[in-house]
Amino acid sequence: MLKHKNIILGVCGSIAAYKSAFLVRLLVKAGANVKVILTPDGANFITPLTLATLSKNPVYTQYFEEETGVWSNHVELGLWADLIIIAPISANTLAKLATGICDNLLTAVYLSAKCPVYVAPAMDLDMWKHESTQANIAKINSYGNTVIAPGSGELASGLYGEGRMAEPEEIISFLDEAIKKSMPLYGKKVMVTAGPTYEAIDPVRFIGNHSSGKMGFALADELARLGADVTLIAGPTAQKCDQNVIRKDVVSAQQMFEACSSVFPETDITVMCAAVADYRPKTVATNKIKKQDSNLVLELEKTVDILANLGQAKKANQILVGFALETNDEENYAKGKLEKKNLDLVILNSLNDKGAGFKSDTNKITIFNRALERTVFEMKSKTDVAKDICSAILKIVK
Ligand code: C5P
Repeated sequence: MLKHKNIILGVCGSIAAYKSAFLVRLLVKAGANVKVILTPDGANFITPLTLATLSKNPVYTQYFEEETGVWSNHVELGLWADLIIIAPISANTLAKLATGICDNLLTAVYLSAKCPVYVAPAMDLDMWKHESTQANIAKINSYGNTVIAPGSGELASGLYGEGRMAEPEEIISFLDEAIKKSMPLYGKKVMVTAGPTYEAIDPVRFIGNHSSGKMGFALADELARLGADVTLIAGPTAQKCDQNVIRKDVVSAQQMFEACSSVFPETDITVMCAAVADYRPKTVATNKIKKQDSNLVLELEKTVDILANLGQAKKANQILVGFALETNDEENYAKGKLEKKNLDLVILNSLNDKGAGFKSDTNKITIFNRALERTVFEMKSKTDVAKDICSAILKIVK
């Protein structure tokens, strides 16, 4: 969840500052971009060199770095951050956050930032219990900040009680969970189908199509990025999906139907992007069919229309999205599919648009919703098309 997130780690004057080195390591390991701001007293407990080396970024300690002559723009830093975590936060800085006192770079960045702010207090037990500290905690909570409660145990003073900063691993899990919960599709179960299906003729031959799976895989990744629990049912393809996506590989339309039927009842949102074969050989030869002098005639039978089946089984709280790849009278066919298959959205791509459809990295779509309202999009990368489709889905979820 922390991958590619811009994170500011504030470190205050507390013996627990030694743990911030571990925290930086874990944040960097999780793929976050980390910039550290030390309060003047924080710099007495841990060196900027340690934190700069671990974060791979310069450490900020004041507005104006005398040695370099560089002025640190607190507004820019605040807006850069996707998330601020102050760990450890001292009783002193807590009080500043509660009252808006802004006498160092960290408190100025805090006031400038628009992102979520988390604080992990560390102090002696009597300081933590003090009414003024608890009032400050209540105040900063009321501003929308989140306090990661300290644990109980041995304190640096030798006393025993509440006030130990949460362990770096606990902080990482806390942030992970908080980010997940703030995502628009958190808790939603989503199924996506992608790629072609292969219908066997004999042990070495099949009927397939040109689908690369790129569009469906981009959709699965984007839906997972929005916090959904995604199951991707994939036909034969070389594509790779995000590690958060549960992937089930299938080969034929029948296998895809069986996989979809078992997953569908639990899903909130289903996006059927696969290019499923409409026909398959009626019989599959057990041995490789030998070349003959005469022509070979294959009898084909219909495969099951997975989307139409799911449309019939769909409950009122389920969202079903289908694709229509057309070559003529595109809009009418797409609208017809929306009605006939009981869809909430149909995504039309036309093979008449150059750069749209199979194999290419781009696509050009038109989306119709239940009210048959039409939204036409420009040609875009399949990653960006996936974002547009997800925005249309989010409108229905809301
Ligand atoms: O009717 P048509 O095959 O054009 O509809 C395309 C849509 O139906 C796509 O969303 C595709 O994934 C789905 N489909 C299916 N099962 C089939 C054929 C198509 O789920 N046998």
